[in-house]
Amino acid sequence: MAHRNPGAFFSLIHSQLFIHVPKPTQSFSDQNVIITGSNTGLGREAANHIVRLGASKVILGVRSVSKGEEAKKYIEENTGSKGVVEVWPLDLANYESVKVFVRRAEGLERLDVVLENAGLLTNTFSMAEGNEYVTSPSTKAPACLPLPQDKPSPLTSSPPSSSP
Ligand SMILES: NC(=O)c1ccc[n+]([C@@H]2O[C@H](COP(=O)([O-])OP(=O)(O)OC[C@H]3O[C@@H](n4cnc5c(N)ncnc54)[C@H](OP(=O)(O)O)[C@@H]3O)[C@@H](O)[C@H]2O)c1
Repeated sequence: MAHRNPGAFFSLIHSQLFIHVPKPTQSFSDQNVIITGSNTGLGREAANHIVRLGASKVILGVRSVSKGEEAKKYIEENTGSKGVVEVWPLDLANYESVKVFVRRAEGLERLDVVLENAGLLTNTFSMAEGNEYVTSPSTKAPACLPLPQDKPSPLTSSPPSSSP
């Protein structure tokens, strides 16, 4: 607890008020990116940066399409880039939703980044799909399912020519 440790408390205040994280500058030119849980928080800000850095497609994997559309609007207004962000439904606590999402992702010409940001912090025990709902029962599923099966996966596409 910060109030029992004055050093930690002042360190927190100092970091929040006086330390500014540098904006990322790496180019995402020609890249397709999926970000889960990107209607808010860190996921939405990551999506905002990646659009700003020139990605050709940024897919917001969200369990509420209306919240995803709001995030898309926010990002488009912030970056001035239209036609980059797509909102795809994805509920990581529902295996069928994950499968539908992944089958759709397999239709992408290429897939360069999957940023598995979705999660939750809870101290209440609950179950989903017969498993403990910790962050979600299938957080890693979107990354695993598109791996090569009976046809080349978009994850195995060659890197864009502009990549370093
Ligand atoms: N912020 C921090 O200081 C911090 C520190 C350590 C780790 N993290 C981790 O970093 C990630 C993002 O943090 P944050 O602060 O940006 O969290 P946040 O604002 O609570 O956002 C979490 C996102 O995950 C989504 N989500 C939750 N359960 C989902 C599910 N079953 N299916 C699909 N999406 C789901 C939420 O969707 P809804 O809006 O629909 O609920 C929301 O978009 C989380 O995994 C968090 O545990 C954060």
